[in-house]
Amino acid sequence: MVNASAGPGGCPAVSVDVGRSGPILSHFEEWDGLREQYPAFWSELYGGHWVITRFEAIRHALQEPSTFSNESTIVSDPNPEYKFIPTFLDPPEHGKYRTLYNARFSPGMVNRITPAARAAANKYIDAFIDDGGCEFMTAFADPFPTDVFLNSINLPPEDTPLFVGWVHAVFGGLSGADPEAGVRAQMEMRDYFKEMLDRRRAEPQDINVDILTYFLSATVDDKAIPEDDILNMAVVLVLAGLDTTKSQLGYNFHYLATHPDDRERLVKDPSLLPTAIEELLRYHAFVPPARKLKHDHGGVAPADPRVPPRRGAADHGARLAVRTRQPAAGVAVSTPSDPKGGRRMRIAVSAELCSGQGRCYSVSPDLFTSDDEGFVVQRGSEFEVPAGLEDQARLAVASCPEGAIRVVDDS
Ligand code: HEM
Repeated sequence: MVNASAGPGGCPAVSVDVGRSGPILSHFEEWDGLREQYPAFWSELYGGHWVITRFEAIRHALQEPSTFSNESTIVSDPNPEYKFIPTFLDPPEHGKYRTLYNARFSPGMVNRITPAARAAANKYIDAFIDDGGCEFMTAFADPFPTDVFLNSINLPPEDTPLFVGWVHAVFGGLSGADPEAGVRAQMEMRDYFKEMLDRRRAEPQDINVDILTYFLSATVDDKAIPEDDILNMAVVLVLAGLDTTKSQLGYNFHYLATHPDDRERLVKDPSLLPTAIEELLRYHAFVPPARKLKHDHGGVAPADPRVPPRRGAADHGARLAVRTRQPAAGVAVSTPSDPKGGRRMRIAVSAELCSGQGRCYSVSPDLFTSDDEGFVVQRGSEFEVPAGLEDQARLAVASCPEGAIRVVDDS
């Protein structure tokens, strides 16, 4: 499988197919091995592409869109004839569209739909609870996130089976099983959203709840968004939001089913849930984003146009651990004998770079807060970190996907 001299410039060549099927977790194990062995390698698959495997290099690539472009984020399709909005856009266009999503998927929206999401979870569990077990993927992982997603954008949850079928067909098509059924499903989804848009035009809904009315009323560069682009954005939301959540639930519940001690700890102490969820997401990072190389970069030439940064490989590096969040209260405050002489760490949040991913207030809730639009309130400011929150500040700096938070003074 490995030929150490076959790649460009003598780079090791490895053929590993991200799309092949295999036993659960076998892909992660394979990538763990590759990451330990090679910081980067050349793969002949899909016409040839570079693969980088380690965290710092992946982060660098994802934060350098002028070199590693979003023009294609799919490794098997470097020159797509279609466009996914906002996914295939580079800055500054990307930010103009990305901003539209923040308020719609903010912590406020999550709080609003939580009661309905709990009710949906109970509904699907009730359907198999008396059997004492179920085929988890079809009984829960498929319908539950779909139901919650439809609720979150104000479409009827009764349409859940329709969307489950479409998503199966589209991803089945992408895997090569039945490409025509995949294309048909995408067309049907567009028709569905077109009909919903017509209804919203006739009878607009609350823009704070209804994403289609909101897209119809929103502007980009002071112009209304063309209907084609709105339909594109709606379909991208479905493709981005449903197969991912289903797969993630599958991995997470497989972990819990095969680690009864951790499951027991979570049942006994639900305060462990937030960090357990963060860790389960990180440990099972399965989305393999690709980027298109725009010009020569550190000896990697654009003769081959793609570099797929393997986020999954980087995130899988540490063992999963369920642990408690460090309490912020009760930490020592500055005193005259403070060895720093009362000086505090300072950090800054760039307004230009922040796109509202919300990682900072998720991982550092005592230091950052979100506004109604889902942005961090501290965006565009430089400020002193209160005593005891320095580690949270460092975690936020390390977690921001855009690199929008920086330490100004850590002396
Ligand atoms: C556990 C579930 C999910 C996982 C693992 C996941 C993973 C990801 C990843 C890795 C990316 C970046 C791709 C790249 O940079 O090439 C991404 C982008 C995106 N995701 Fe998700 N996602 C999940 C759920 C969702 C949901 C529920 C929605 C919406 C309802 C969603 C909407 C999007 C959108 C719109 C983008 C593009 C963002 C942009 O270009 O700025 N995702 N997702």
